[in-house]
Amino acid sequence: MEDKKISAVVTGLGMYVPDRIYDNAYFEKIVDTSDEWIRSRTGIRERRILENGATSLLASKAAEDLLKTKNMSADEIDVIIVATVTPDMFFPATACLVQENIGAKNAWGFDLSAACSGFLFAFQTGCSLVESGRYKKVMVIGADKMSSIVDYKDRNNCILFGDAGAAILLEPSEDIKYGLQDSLLRVDGSGKDVLYMKGGGSLNPPTHETIDQNMHVIYQDGKAVFKVAVKGMADISYDLMKKNNLNGEDIAYLVPHQANLRIIDATAERMGINRDKVMINIDKYGNTTAATIPSCLVEYYRDGKLKKGDKIILAAFGAGFTWGASYLVWSMD
Ligand code: COA
Repeated sequence: MEDKKISAVVTGLGMYVPDRIYDNAYFEKIVDTSDEWIRSRTGIRERRILENGATSLLASKAAEDLLKTKNMSADEIDVIIVATVTPDMFFPATACLVQENIGAKNAWGFDLSAACSGFLFAFQTGCSLVESGRYKKVMVIGADKMSSIVDYKDRNNCILFGDAGAAILLEPSEDIKYGLQDSLLRVDGSGKDVLYMKGGGSLNPPTHETIDQNMHVIYQDGKAVFKVAVKGMADISYDLMKKNNLNGEDIAYLVPHQANLRIIDATAERMGINRDKVMINIDKYGNTTAATIPSCLVEYYRDGKLKKGDKIILAAFGAGFTWGASYLVWSMD
């Protein structure tokens, strides 16, 4: 932990999930699968799907929920960071579309692409902007319309993902015992061939051929990703705890990326944390990529389970590979 004078603390929360539910029974009708297989292999029961609109809608509604709950004007926002791998368009950034939708007329912003670690990386970035002393109100949003890049004929992948958006507000605090305390973050591009979308970028621009070859959907070698995700998330969380002299009992909650309940359980076990201290909403929403961690924070806080002073570890693993863990002390009453 380096010396710091200002801490970045979470002071606001918001989220949005679409109404439309795809339960496991829905997938039994469209691919060769079963409710039993999906629940036992992944922990997922249902996910939300956005029928009309794009990621900016998920992100903007989450931001509006935050502003309404906090009774705050959008004019006050200095920066908007949107973590997403499903931007409405390559450009302009989804952050610009959110700015217009919510009327944040004094903000600048940008998108950040780190797949399932997107929120964690955006959170670190937002905290650094606040800790620099230059920005006072930074909104960090994780939002993904995963249904726009899922192949609903591929049973290996289509059952895993859902759509959601969630937002947090970061502000400075002179009480440095609260807020972000430490992070360990990593990327390793050697993972690029086991989880990616082959087409649409400058490598394989969209053509009739890329469409015929089904290159505009998620490609994943699930087994390969599973192995490295378990090790990556568990090791880095353990290292972060050790670095900060924390043991399982000190931690109020592990807030893991929600990709697979078995990955979550393995991480918690390695950290010596009981299941009742692990935030979980994968059963309701599936893997919503950048929205998993902030949506857990919103729901557990609103349920009265997350209290001021709680020590929590956020942990994620995703395409890239990207992975990491952050240690923060909860600051909201
Ligand atoms: N329904 C029924 N059977 C399915 C299925 C489905 N929806 N999806 C795959 N299967 C089959 C496979 O075809 C395979 O059959 P085979 O043995 O005849 O080839 C069998 O189930 C077992 O597949 P396997 O890959 O061993 O299952 P798994 O236990 O590894 O679970 C995942 C598959 C995708 C759930 C798991 O690997 C996973 O979660 N991976 C990581 C995903 C992830 O985290 N991605 C986001 C980035 S972090």
